Amino acid sequence: MAYKLGIIGYGGIGTWHHKSLQKFVEEIEVVCAYDIRPEVKEIAINHGIQFCNSLDELLQDETIDIVTIATPNNFHKDLAIKCLKSGKHVICEKPVTMNAEELKEIMIVAKEGGKLFSIHQNRRWDETYLILKKIVEDGTIGKPYYIESRVQGSRRSLHGWRGYKENGGGMVYDWGVHLIDQLLDLVDSPVVSLEAHLFSIFSKEVDDNFKVLMRFENGLSALVEIATNCFITQPRFHMSCTDGTAIIENWDCDGKIVKLSCDETMEWDNDIVYTSAGPTRTMAPRPVHTTEELPLPKVEANWSAYYKNIVAAIEGTEELIVTPEQGLRVMTVIDRIFESERTGLPIKCRI
Ligand SMILES: NC(=O)c1ccc[n+]([C@@H]2O[C@H](COP(=O)([O-])OP(=O)(O)OC[C@H]3O[C@@H](n4cnc5c(N)ncnc54)[C@H](O)[C@@H]3O)[C@@H](O)[C@H]2O)c1
Repeated sequence: MAYKLGIIGYGGIGTWHHKSLQKFVEEIEVVCAYDIRPEVKEIAINHGIQFCNSLDELLQDETIDIVTIATPNNFHKDLAIKCLKSGKHVICEKPVTMNAEELKEIMIVAKEGGKLFSIHQNRRWDETYLILKKIVEDGTIGKPYYIESRVQGSRRSLHGWRGYKENGGGMVYDWGVHLIDQLLDLVDSPVVSLEAHLFSIFSKEVDDNFKVLMRFENGLSALVEIATNCFITQPRFHMSCTDGTAIIENWDCDGKIVKLSCDETMEWDNDIVYTSAGPTRTMAPRPVHTTEELPLPKVEANWSAYYKNIVAAIEGTEELIVTPEQGLRVMTVIDRIFESERTGLPIKCRI
């Protein structure tokens, strides 16, 4: 029999959760939604589910096993604690909370009640990210030492509550949290320093563009950038490894790997070389036969893998993939990003 799930916050992503579960996850049946906007009742009923007129109505329904929280960010903590205390398994949208302290409060309650608590970090199943991860795991071009991870748009304004500080708006919380979660998943080493530059170009209250440079203890550095005012975009991922470079251009996963094909040492001329860069030996083009171009590897990517794992974790057949402890690392990084912006200084840390 399918697990019964209720959605709190039946807006943009709330309705997406419903449709996606209906289509891909037969182990879960979405049965109801609760939303503070009364007009959502008609939408929910049209979508074939019950509408709860209050949060208590949803929480008191003992047939509901799992709750997905998909409200603006500032409501996540209180809602998650209430749901867990009512004996529900809880999935919370990202960013899980406004800061690491809030998440710790949730984690205590989840532990006391023995219920599952997870964060919807669905972008761990993005095709672009899984390709990057596979290149690293396969060691195709050696060890990575620098990664650029970017998402750039040009709409300039932020949608709805995303423009308000009180609601946890801004791009660090919105997209930054995904890109940071991916990096912490990819790199098996603590973050030891970071420096953040946040911009409020058009938004009055929150960051609408940002760059963060992070260094990990194993020596790898990563640049994370979100832009909403970028008219000439850069690649989604660019990765420098010891034996080559990988580029993933866009969401369609265009891109390539260029790999050293033979490690013959470069012979140096005593004479300067005249190149299109001017007179230089270091930047003179490498002989063509010493590199080869490879296509990006193929991967299986499906966001519904997230919910499949939730079911398996409830049943005890798999370990939970997106854990609260991982969420705590992400939120701690985010806390330090805001601190770096506030102080104008790089931050030393061990996260
Ligand atoms: N994982 C992803 O890919 C992804 C994508 C988009 C949004 N999100 C996250 O999902 C959450 C919602 O974002 P959205 O784009 O769907 O916003 P939205 O504004 O489209 O929908 C939010 C809904 O929550 C309702 N709501 C607000 N306060 C509430 C409360 N206290 N109790 C019950 N309902 C309440 C609103 O009426 C609205 O229907 C945010 O945390 C956001 O960061 C995640």
